[in-house]
Amino acid sequence: MDKLVCVVTGGTGGIGSAAVREMLASGYKVLFADVNAERNEAFKQELIAEGYTDVECMTCDVSDRVQCDALAAKAKSMGKVQGLIHLAGLTPAFASYDAIVRVEAIGTLNMNEAFYQVMEEGSSIMNISSQTAHMVPFDKYPTEIFDKAFTDRQAFYTELCHFCKDLGDKMGGGQMPSNMAYTYSRCFIYWLCRNCCYALGRRKGIKINTVSIGFCETPRSKADLEAGGLDYKERLAKMVETTAFGRPGYPEEVAKVFEFLINPKNSYLSGIDILWDNGQMANGHKGRGGFDPATRPYDPEKKFDVDYSKNY
Ligand SMILES: NC(=O)c1ccc[n+]([C@@H]2O[C@H](COP(=O)([O-])OP(=O)(O)OC[C@H]3O[C@@H](n4cnc5c(N)ncnc54)[C@H](O)[C@@H]3O)[C@@H](O)[C@H]2O)c1
Repeated sequence: MDKLVCVVTGGTGGIGSAAVREMLASGYKVLFADVNAERNEAFKQELIAEGYTDVECMTCDVSDRVQCDALAAKAKSMGKVQGLIHLAGLTPAFASYDAIVRVEAIGTLNMNEAFYQVMEEGSSIMNISSQTAHMVPFDKYPTEIFDKAFTDRQAFYTELCHFCKDLGDKMGGGQMPSNMAYTYSRCFIYWLCRNCCYALGRRKGIKINTVSIGFCETPRSKADLEAGGLDYKERLAKMVETTAFGRPGYPEEVAKVFEFLINPKNSYLSGIDILWDNGQMANGHKGRGGFDPATRPYDPEKKFDVDYSKNY
């Protein structure tokens, strides 16, 4: 049987490169895309040297719909397009608020719609979101702006940019507009998944899900924590304080979650978000129904004064 095709955007990034390796090792033909042609080619050669043969790459800026359509057409020419793992993204320490909205919110719409054209029944889309989308209560999502993504793309982009800039400026300016652009673009990606799973499922039998990452250690997330001259070890310790295992996640671990979502064996999961944060939201965010680990009363070793052999 011909190998299924999986596309990974942000494919040379920390998580992207692990996703590419995971999908190749799982028997897919992989087409990865990123913005830098030289980095793409160097990574492809690295993979070939590791013994992988079914790997192609393409330069693609996901904020450009024409380039996304070309990527989708190339994927289709390689065989049945089973999966899209859409990881391309920017971070607030290194990008302006409007660039973040363009790459993350518009880029996700571009990629999803370009790949919808070439996907078939059973295909699967995974868009990356972030734990930050869970920190904003649903009733605080600017849905009147998000709705415009389905009716007026220009207004959606312009208004989301203004919303993030205004909110960021009110919060203290500096990097805050970019922080807000990151947060609300990730909220949009999560909202989009919930809003379009019905249409994708009913029209073509395509699944769509998101994965919201808490903290995954990559060169980029390390640079983000170090931005502003702060000590990485100290900031990391704070970051993982409320995780269940007391450590960050690693790209190879989250790549296995992507593989599960793309695999045809996932025949039903759609319209959901996997909060891949090792319990951090559960432990740390009391405002969202989280618990304070220091006072959590649960003790799995505690014995009760009951007859365990009976249904008491
Ligand atoms: N690492 C974490 O803790 C974490 C947490 C939450 C969300 N995320 C998200 O997961 C994804 C991967 O994270 P990472 O840590 O590997 O970061 P990374 O910076 O290593 O990877 C992102 C990749 O996206 C590419 N990219 C940027 N703009 C693009 C564009 N316009 N078109 C195509 N590609 C573009 C970059 O070149 C880069 O290779 C990102 O979207 C990130 O925001 C990561």
